[in-house]
Amino acid sequence: MRGPGTPGLCYTARMNLDGKHIVLGVTGGVAAYKAAELARELQRAGATVQAVMTAAATRFVTPVTFQALTGRPVYVDQWDARIDDNMAHIELSRRADAILVAPATADFIAKLAHGLADDLLATLCVARDCPLLVAPAMNRQMWLHPATQRNVAQLAADGVAVLGPASGEQACGETGLGRMLEPLELVDELAAHFVPKALAGRHVLLTAGPTYEPIDPVRGITNLSSGKMGFALARACSAAGAQVTLVAGPTALVTPRGVRRIDVRTAQQMHDAVMATLDAPAADEPRPDVFVAVAAVADWRVANASDRKLKKRDAHDLPQLEFVQNPDILAAVARRPDAPWCVGFAAESEDLEANGAAKRAAKGVPLLVANIGHATFGRDDNELLLIDAHGSRRLPRAGKAELAQALVAEIAQRLPPRGS
Ligand code: C5P
Repeated sequence: MRGPGTPGLCYTARMNLDGKHIVLGVTGGVAAYKAAELARELQRAGATVQAVMTAAATRFVTPVTFQALTGRPVYVDQWDARIDDNMAHIELSRRADAILVAPATADFIAKLAHGLADDLLATLCVARDCPLLVAPAMNRQMWLHPATQRNVAQLAADGVAVLGPASGEQACGETGLGRMLEPLELVDELAAHFVPKALAGRHVLLTAGPTYEPIDPVRGITNLSSGKMGFALARACSAAGAQVTLVAGPTALVTPRGVRRIDVRTAQQMHDAVMATLDAPAADEPRPDVFVAVAAVADWRVANASDRKLKKRDAHDLPQLEFVQNPDILAAVARRPDAPWCVGFAAESEDLEANGAAKRAAKGVPLLVANIGHATFGRDDNELLLIDAHGSRRLPRAGKAELAQALVAEIAQRLPPRGS
């Protein structure tokens, strides 16, 4: 999988944590330095952050860093007299919508698994009445140790969400499983935690991005689609509990965590990847029950594409390109006898409602989503008109992540029960 640290890649709009109060627990591992950035990203996503550190964590990063970043005093000591009744463990956990411990060391995970409460952070985890999420970070050998694995399994059985770890280069110089997830990945995981699981048990197949139709080995025809809406939808479907397969045209966007991505270039390849997923889903996936065609698929491809680079000659000897029509992926999926529930997108410039309704009928799909206004390509926001058999409904201008979440709720409402 491509990592978020990879240069040249972009993120889609983030899901938000507006109004959420998060206790950020920081324990004593070298990844504590990344928790400072995490505190910032959580706030950027709309959360308020209360940092609580273990004594060991303060050896890596000082409380002053978190105080400056969050604008709140940082708690370390169980006997901190700043809380009126001296019950910091109760006071701090009751105000929280969730506790996120990042990084969570092997030692802290062991403590949690056994219900130990010998410092402020461990005590408030035991005393909490809100969700607890932990992001393990440790040397790969410590992660693989049977005791750690037993403790992690115990946490999962106790309803604690274990986020990661990722595999890769470690501070100790070794390589393997044990790296803390990146701050932006943790923000996403936390935001997903709050999303209702309206698509649990479903498999959603999506197309996103542009296609690229070659003229010769170095030239081609493409369009301005950024893939942002399709990727935001893939992320929102996954957050809503669905298994997600995303067939993506050429884009530099980062794959949302938990999403299976198939990269393609041409419309024909996109068509073939979609049909292959419908015919033979991966072993651990149910057959797709929803298909969302967000991609801006090229209508035509060059019939006489050259396998050698075309040479520039004189002004009278210009290349003569011939075109053939590409398959209409959405219409072909909707025509299948075993068609999943299909959603189409449309970029109409005028008479949106009538043209949208006609397109819905022509494609044979239950729901058509029309982009309102021009120039949605590449932007981070959008405005949508949903058209189904009963009429239309507007989703007002918002960020693509927020719109994607609203659209997922609309799809979930309309979806027939499984197996019907
Ligand atoms: O026909 P039009 O391109 O306006 O239709 C747009 C919808 O059809 C989008 O959902 C798009 O992803 C899908 N489509 C497709 N295959 C094509 C052309 C469009 O799946 N060849």
